[in-house]
Amino acid sequence: MSRQSRKREHLWHAVRTDLTSADFDDVQLVHNCMPETAFDGLDLSTRLAGLALRAPLLINAITGGVEEAENINRDLALAARECGLALAVGSQAAALEEPLYQNTFRVVRDVYPEGVIFANIGAYASPEQAKQAVEMVQADALQVHLNVPQELMMPNGDSDFRGYRRQLERIVKSVDVPVIVKEIGFGVAWEQAAVFRECGVAAIDVGGKGGTNFMLIERRRAHLQGPDDLLEWGIPTAVSILETRAGAPGVDVIASGGINTGLLAAKALALGACCVGIAGLAAKILLAEGKEKLVSRLKGIIKEIQMVMVMTGSASVGELRRKPVVITGKTQEWLRQRGFDTSLLARQHADTLKF
Ligand SMILES: Cc1cc2nc3c(=O)[nH]c(=O)nc-3n(C[C@H](O)[C@H](O)[C@H](O)COP(=O)(O)O)c2cc1C
Repeated sequence: MSRQSRKREHLWHAVRTDLTSADFDDVQLVHNCMPETAFDGLDLSTRLAGLALRAPLLINAITGGVEEAENINRDLALAARECGLALAVGSQAAALEEPLYQNTFRVVRDVYPEGVIFANIGAYASPEQAKQAVEMVQADALQVHLNVPQELMMPNGDSDFRGYRRQLERIVKSVDVPVIVKEIGFGVAWEQAAVFRECGVAAIDVGGKGGTNFMLIERRRAHLQGPDDLLEWGIPTAVSILETRAGAPGVDVIASGGINTGLLAAKALALGACCVGIAGLAAKILLAEGKEKLVSRLKGIIKEIQMVMVMTGSASVGELRRKPVVITGKTQEWLRQRGFDTSLLARQHADTLKF
């Protein structure tokens, strides 16, 4: 099957598969009944990989490299522009192989010249391809995605993942923009976060379990049968944010994987993420209901984040990121067994934590 058919089918399945959200039920913010904060004038700005973002939300990598992607990426860029958000294009592999497809990516820079835009390639890409991907959209940063479970589930997918670390190091050295390493829905653990830090990445997008599930999508695409337990594979998004912070102190964290509401986004920020990424929800709304509906949902998510900021007494995203968070249940148990003292998060500012 060609890369183009695969891209088409990913969109088709993303729209038709029920949306699932990350499980943050074990993560609670503490209500502030007298916040001394005003809704108007809240500071939503944040910094990611040295870049200034107007809001702590980005439309994550979705598509490109197939004819219809030009219109989709145009609409995503217009929506991002209207809401003042950063935007990542989908994997540019197709356009690196076949220049005809470059327009399906370039369109985002054409319609959003002032935007913060991320290029996207796989970890198998060469440094030369990485540079071309950045140049193609005049990117402000480069996302390098990792999708091992998806490849393994895909008939004829990749099965040899050796050499990625070296490749990542070479990419980081060769491009002149910050590199963001990115999972696509199975999460990042402490140990690999530490490796990414050693490789010199500027940010890690945890792409945790709970949202779009590419093992499920690949299984449906290939009409495969099988037990469902493997589809539960991965590190939940909430856990992965803390694992990543612990493994890569000082490296910015993007929370993604099933962040479909403002409350989930606010909880992810309070766990220490610099911003959150949304992909499946954006694809679904855009393709099923159109750009205006997408803009209205994105503005709704921002408004929900603002409400939580007031209700926690946070005048800025920076303050929200330092608010106490109570972690219970399975999430606490996981973290405890991995050596975190979650009571520190509940009692004091997350910034002062030693993990
Ligand atoms: C239709 C579709 C296509 C995607 N294509 C890419 C891609 O080309 N490159 C990439 O890094 N991630 C890709 N992703 C993964 C997302 O960027 C994101 O990491 C993942 O979907 C988890 O976030 P979500 O739960 O908000 O969807 C794609 C997601 C969807 C829904």
